Amino acid sequence: MAKKILILGAAGEIARMLTDRLLAESDAELVLYGRNVSQRLALEENSRIKLVDGTFGESEKLEAALAGVDVVYLNSMSSPADTASVVQALEKAGVKRLLGATIAGVEDEVPYELATWTKNSLPASYIKGEYDSAKIVRDSNLDYTLLRLTWLFNDESDREYELVPSGVEFADAEVSRQAITQAILDILNGEESEYVRKSFGLGKPNTHYGKPSFY
Ligand SMILES: NC(=O)c1ccc[n+]([C@@H]2O[C@H](COP(=O)([O-])OP(=O)(O)OC[C@H]3O[C@@H](n4cnc5c(N)ncnc54)[C@H](OP(=O)(O)O)[C@@H]3O)[C@@H](O)[C@H]2O)c1
Repeated sequence: MAKKILILGAAGEIARMLTDRLLAESDAELVLYGRNVSQRLALEENSRIKLVDGTFGESEKLEAALAGVDVVYLNSMSSPADTASVVQALEKAGVKRLLGATIAGVEDEVPYELATWTKNSLPASYIKGEYDSAKIVRDSNLDYTLLRLTWLFNDESDREYELVPSGVEFADAEVSRQAITQAILDILNGEESEYVRKSFGLGKPNTHYGKPSFY
């Protein structure tokens, strides 16, 4: 497990779950970065945590937050400009390892019915932003792992997930945020060479539906 982890978009739902589990299950130091996190994250005083209020576009603040960091988790990739700013900051700071959460479909890997339902359910600009951001990460020199998340729900008792590599159809229609958190922890604890410069569909097995069951 990395010694120091920077979580970007730390007030987000998955980011909060990841923070809680990293605090409970590892010795890692955490830098929690996001808009007004010092107010929004009601965390107990903890010498392992540093809170940084900032946006992904604030390059100098980002670079400062990257000091001594081994791994970055990026919890939002909807804005290509923001993703470019994050990638640039990592490159400048000499931090190589990035785990990024994007959406299923950015590699045209989702079967027609689910892909069409997704396209009709989300703003085209949002989908394009995720596509373009994923490309920015793939085109970088970083040791990235892209996580292509399918539709999310919350269930404390459900941590079931599968990783579907690039080039393989990704048909899972749903997955819990708790399972995503588990996958991130497994990747952080796993053999880096299995994940570096790779992209995975992340879904709950056997949910090959035309749309998520909760819609
Ligand atoms: N909902 C779904 O079914 C679904 C499916 C696939 C993928 N996803 C994606 O999966 C990711 C993680 O899910 P989640 O539920 O944890 O999302 P979330 O709660 O929306 O978390 C994303 C976080 O990123 C932060 N953020 C975005 N742009 C930022 C910027 N420029 N500067 C600083 N912070 C910024 C947001 O800040 P604020 O809180 O200040 O807005 C938010 O806290 C999201 O990016 C989402 O788009 C969602």
